[in-house]
Amino acid sequence: MQELLTLIKGRQSSRCAFDPDRSVPKEALSEILEAGCWAPTAHNMQNFEIVVVDDKKLLEKIRKIHFPISETFLQENYLQLSFSEEELKRKKTGVLSTMFPKSWLHPGLIAEHSHVNETDQPFLERHHQMLSCPLMIFLLYDPKRRAPDSDGDFLGIMSLGCVMENMWLMAASLGIGFHVVSALSGSYPEAELKKILRIPDHLSLAIAFRLGYPVTPTSYLRVRRDVDSITHHNGF
Ligand SMILES: Cc1cc2nc3c(=O)[nH]c(=O)nc-3n(C[C@H](O)[C@H](O)[C@H](O)COP(=O)(O)O)c2cc1C
Repeated sequence: MQELLTLIKGRQSSRCAFDPDRSVPKEALSEILEAGCWAPTAHNMQNFEIVVVDDKKLLEKIRKIHFPISETFLQENYLQLSFSEEELKRKKTGVLSTMFPKSWLHPGLIAEHSHVNETDQPFLERHHQMLSCPLMIFLLYDPKRRAPDSDGDFLGIMSLGCVMENMWLMAASLGIGFHVVSALSGSYPEAELKKILRIPDHLSLAIAFRLGYPVTPTSYLRVRRDVDSITHHNGF
């Protein structure tokens, strides 16, 4: 089963533009959805629905949704950043600062700029370009299907992570790029998205994914803590 570990370690976030004119084949999409359906969920509640969007006009409307950035996001995001590959290799957690606009990268500026300023325009244009894709999948949370006696439906929410990972691994095994776009789950973008996709009120957006074939495949430094440093045998 070494192949499974290779697939798990090779799965990555495709933070790049996907060719909007190269569709994900129907069979591949079916396999990705089937992998999601067969995910383990607490009590086998299957507390989710999935919306698949490949209509170009809808994708463009979704791409235009504005994502406001909160002060809390900026502050907590800053704590996860590394400003060089060396720093990231040393920390072994978090992400490189190059993923974000410059105005988000200075703690002193955070209080004054809880929004993006003009210097970020080139970054934002690149980012907007990057959001092009031939397919998006929206994983919806159905809170009516609740795991029994689970505080805050913690077990139900964990279950959604299993659905996501199954789909992500399946996409990776098929050579299809997969990018999580959690900013769409914020309250304003979610409300816009629910209108565009006619999603019933009782369901909420757990998380959104872009899928497709990268225009220019990009690789970046990926790090993890060592297994020994996170594993505690026979007690913490
Ligand atoms: C719940 C969740 C939300 C995430 N949200 C985003 C996101 O909004 N944008 C993004 O580029 N990556 C997002 N990611 C991807 C993580 O940043 C990524 O998995 C992590 O940095 C490790 O990199 P890797 O996926 O290449 O292994 C998310 C991942 C998870 C599990």
